Order: sequence, then structure tokens, then C-alpha cells
Amino acid sequence: KVEHTPYRLGYHIMAPAHWINDPNGLIQWNGEYHVFYQHHPYSPKGGPIHWGHVKSKDLVRWEHLPIALAPGEEYDKSGCFSGSAVDNNGTLTLIYTGHISLNEETDEFREVQCIATSEDGIHFTKHPQNPVITEPPAGGSWHFRDPKVWKHSETWYMVLGNQMDGLGNVLLYESADLVNWEYSGILVKSDGKLGYMLECPDFIELNGKHVLLSSPQGIQPEGDLYQNLYQTGYLVGEFDYETKQFTHGEFEELDKGFDFYAVQSFEDEKGRRIVIGWMNMWESQMPEQEHGWAGALTIPRELQLHDDGKLLMKPVVELKSLRENNISVQTMIVSENVRLDEVKGDQLEIIAKFSLANTSAEKFGLKVRCSENGKEHTIVSYDVKEQKVIVDRSQSGRGEGGIRKGKIEMLHHDVITLQLFIDRSSLELFVNEGELVMTNRIYPDPASLGVELFTEGGSVKLIELEAWTLKDIWV
Ligand code: FRU
Repeated sequence: KVEHTPYRLGYHIMAPAHWINDPNGLIQWNGEYHVFYQHHPYSPKGGPIHWGHVKSKDLVRWEHLPIALAPGEEYDKSGCFSGSAVDNNGTLTLIYTGHISLNEETDEFREVQCIATSEDGIHFTKHPQNPVITEPPAGGSWHFRDPKVWKHSETWYMVLGNQMDGLGNVLLYESADLVNWEYSGILVKSDGKLGYMLECPDFIELNGKHVLLSSPQGIQPEGDLYQNLYQTGYLVGEFDYETKQFTHGEFEELDKGFDFYAVQSFEDEKGRRIVIGWMNMWESQMPEQEHGWAGALTIPRELQLHDDGKLLMKPVVELKSLRENNISVQTMIVSENVRLDEVKGDQLEIIAKFSLANTSAEKFGLKVRCSENGKEHTIVSYDVKEQKVIVDRSQSGRGEGGIRKGKIEMLHHDVITLQLFIDRSSLELFVNEGELVMTNRIYPDPASLGVELFTEGGSVKLIELEAWTLKDIWV
């Protein structure tokens, strides 16, 4: 049980207290979903990183387990950094980065790769042969971290983030036993556009293609794109296991909100590719630190590759089991702001469908977490001319405010669907079956619970709106 403070989330993964960053070691093991996470158990501001641990039978209700990994050996004494999990003939095996700080002031450090195993899925033993990869390949810097491992026809493969000549690369390794690793070369070489470090790479097969998810740092902003210094995205292409060549297209953002980073994926027993991200990034302000905690993970999302080569993210269907108190708002023409008195709350799911045919409005959408006097709110809108969805949190309450925009290709539909997951200090927005996703932390007053339809410059047809309050899994 955790203490209930104003921003404490109701249905997201958080640590029992204190600091959390990247999701790690995502796996369905012996039927149960396990999520580990970067965690500092002694302060809400970070520190020597441990691996926290939760598990679930349904991807919705999570149970806290004891800390899985703590720094302590010579090779991980300053932190057990991000990594992944695999099932090795029934043994749950974690592959992680040992971080060794040499000089805090000059930020001089070493990073090595390590493994730890468990038979019960709760208690982990670090391997006697750690570190299993002791240094970066020739030319690589000590920014050498975040192993993601998978199996392909009896061989284990690993992708790792590395910095070479000041740019971020992704390296590929192979092993027969998870202990002895051989370097196979650079999988993705930065062309300079991908920033100075590619963190948390994840290489997956989806719909006949290969996709590299990764979290580059330092991509230059370009119009509405790459607004975050820490920006998760992906490359889609073809991979040849013989030549180990990955040919791919351009880097695409995976989520266009303020707070989404270090995403990791896994395939579950139903064959779904599921992703969870850190619902913050390193620049995020975290007012919850005042209450002794910081950070959370996103709701689980199913990842799909659309025929046009773009990734879609959709909330996993299991989340429907959180729904209570269904409210439906029937078709109406919205020509002025409409406060929806029946729809109210700080844990809500809302699905609103608007028609784009015969719309005279320039902008329309929803205001959520509205205060009684209307001054505080978070706006989700669609700009008809620009064909952009906008999240505006400049009047959301505390935190740093700001606006994010995402273009949507409306060619195939004349309906726009906005699906919102609201929690006490977050808003995750899914547009049109996951073609655009925006994840955001917001810090409104706990009493700001209202929901409003709004329009500017004309009218728009609301086809339907459904809403539910969502259960709190932590009480
Ligand atoms: C990404 C990251 C990883 C690293 C971890 C440390 O957010 O910087 O590269 O392993 O966090 O907590």
C-alpha cells in the first residue's frame, strides 16, 4: 500500500515510493507479466539505480515485489542500469548494464554488461562470470549500455547503445549461452541526425519488417518534431541475419507528447507486441517529488506496424476492465463550449468521435481537468486547417506548461477519434486507432475535475462520446 498524495496515479505502474525511470526486463514468464524498472529506493531524486519489480496476471493490476537488483559488486557498484529479460529454458535471466562511476565531477565512468538469473521469478543471483561484456569494441566510448536480448534460431542476439566519435550508434552482439558474447558490428550507425547517444535500443520483427526502437538524445528540433531533448522513436527496414545488415528508412517519433522515453517492448503469449515507456523524460519537471516520489510508466500499449510503414500504438484491451460508470453523450452539433456535467473526474477514459464533414469550426476538441471557474484546464484540440492535433498544457496547473502538435494523415477518414486516458497527474491521448499518440504529465489542482467540449470559429458535429471512470488499482 502506498500513501495517497494529490498527484499519485491510480492505474499506472509506479514504485512504492521514491524515484523511477526506464521500464526494464519486460517479459511474460510462466504466464505472468513482469515489469522491472530503474528505481532509486531511497530518494525521489534518483541515485544509485536498482531494479524495482512488479508483476501482473492481466497487464492491469500490478503487485509490488522485492527489489530484483541492487548495486553492490565492483562491476555495478554505481548502478544497475537498464536492460532486458529472457526465458532461458525456464530460468528467468536479466541482462543489464553495470555502471561504475570513476569521477562524479568529470562524469568519468565505465559501463559493462552483466546477467542475473532466477528460478522463482522473484530472487535474482548475479552471475559469477560477470561482467559478461567487459568493454566496448575498438573506437566505442564508455557510453555503452542498455542491452536488449532476443533469440533467433538457437542464437541469442543483443543490441546495445554506444557512442562513437560523439554520435549515437547501435551495436549488435551474438551468444550461444548468454555468457560468452561476440561482437558482430554496428547495426545502426548515426548519420549525425540521430543525436549523440542512442539509449535503450530494442530490435523487433513486426509484420514482416524489422523495427529498431530507440531513445536518442540530442536530436535537433525540426518544426513540430523532436521537441524533447530525450526523444523516443523508430526505424523500419529489412534485416538479413546472414550479412547482419539492417537497411532502414528515416527516424520517426513514436509518441509526440511531452513525457515519453526509454520505451521497451516484449511479445506476449498471445503474440502481441506490447510496449511500455517511462512517462517522463530527463527534462520533465516532477512536482510529485515534494510528496516523496517521482515518475511512472505508461499504460501498456499494443504496437502494430501499419502498411504505410508507420507504427501504431493502442491501449491494450485489458484496460477495459478498469471501466466503471459508463456515460454516453449522443450526437450533437457543438457550436459553443459545452460543460459535460455528467463526465467528471481525475481517473477517466473518454472516447470522442467528431465528424470532419461540414465542419465550420477552425478548432475543436475537449478541455479536461477543468476548474470550476474555467481558468485551469488541459486542452486537446484538432486544428482543421493545419490537420494537427494539439495538446496544450499551458493552463494545466503546475509544471512547465507548453504545447505539442502532431500531424495526422486524414486521407482515409472523415471522422477523428480522440481517446483520452486521464489519471491524477497524466494524460495519454490516442488519436484514430493509435496513429498519433501523445503522452503527458499534468499537475492540476485535485479539485479540477470538469470536462468540456469546445469549438472555435464555427461548429462541429460530435458523433458520439463515451466516458468511464477508471478504477484505482492501488487502493
Ligand atoms: C535512459 C537511461 C539509460 C540508462 C538509465 C539509467 O533513460 O539514461 O540509458 O541505462 O537511464 O538509469
